[in-house]
Amino acid sequence: MSGSFGARPVLLERFRDLLPVTSATPLLTLGEGATPLVRVPRLGADIGASDLWLKVEGANPTGSFKDRGMVVAVAKAAESGARAIVCASTGNTSASAAAYAAAAGLEAIVLLPAGKIAAGKLLQAFAAGAKVISIDGNFDDALEIVRELGAGGGGVEIVNSINPHRIAGQATAAHEIIADLGDAPDVLALPVGNAGNISAYWRGFTDAVRIGSTKRRPRMAGFQAAGAAPFVSGAPIANPETIATAIRIGKPASWDLAIAARDESGGFIRAVTDDEILRAQADIIRLGGIFVEPACAAPIAGLRNAIADGSIDGSQRIVAVMTGFGLKDPDTASRLVGEIRQSDATVAGVRRALGW
Ligand code: F0G
Repeated sequence: MSGSFGARPVLLERFRDLLPVTSATPLLTLGEGATPLVRVPRLGADIGASDLWLKVEGANPTGSFKDRGMVVAVAKAAESGARAIVCASTGNTSASAAAYAAAAGLEAIVLLPAGKIAAGKLLQAFAAGAKVISIDGNFDDALEIVRELGAGGGGVEIVNSINPHRIAGQATAAHEIIADLGDAPDVLALPVGNAGNISAYWRGFTDAVRIGSTKRRPRMAGFQAAGAAPFVSGAPIANPETIATAIRIGKPASWDLAIAARDESGGFIRAVTDDEILRAQADIIRLGGIFVEPACAAPIAGLRNAIADGSIDGSQRIVAVMTGFGLKDPDTASRLVGEIRQSDATVAGVRRALGW
């Protein structure tokens, strides 16, 4: 399972000192991490941010940020002699778990809320050979079941973000941002669902201060969908709903860590509507060239609002985390398909179709 990707750094090796990697840990990799940090001036101008960057986590091997933590969790599961990994998921965790389990030779069992998984993610889990179980309930119900399944031992490891190896792996993104920019940004904006990622970034920035790669930490700006915004209402909610199925979560597992990240950073967690999410998803590709799934649009929609009402200074350096790739959810994106111009197979026909 070891081996390098040519000159491409292997996450478990590059961040070895920050991860629970021992001489017995298999150096599993699918090429995760080292994702692009892209400046997007046209998108920035549209939302009032003069120094806006996107951390393109959809460029990870299974198309989401989950791969950073999954590689650590699955490598540690393999190291401990586990035979299977299990997770609840709104889609991306299952796609990532299935892929890394396949590479490591473990069985993957994924519990998904029935009818609420984007088509691409479901396909990924099946294609990698996972056992897919559809739960007649939501993500929060599925996670409760997984906690009990995993508690039974028997060589079955939970790979949700309640597994600390997941958070440790995801924290590497904060170190990459500091390495690319030479310092921490002023603001780190990201979507919040089960709240593992906001907790992981805060840990990453905190570790970076400790090891001296930066002197400061960013304000954390978390964004939820209005129909699934327990951090905004201040309590878990029973029936979360949003078009951004990735963050359709009412009872986030990393509640306390996320509150700490918010408060210690002087940041906030706010909500945006589904309409704002859909508009921002279109803006990100139309003005930035980066195609993301709906959840990633929450921070861009939210930043637009926060800059407009003065709670974020638009001249500051802002990094927004684009957590998943656009083609994961073709159904939601299909509204972006326009009219196809018909032409016969001639230059003249194409000119006519273009109105030239
Ligand atoms: N963005 C995407 C694309 C996600 O898939 C998720 C979570 C989040 C943001 C929120 O991150 O949960 O750490 O606050 N997806 C999980 C899953 C729940 O099962 O794939 P979080």
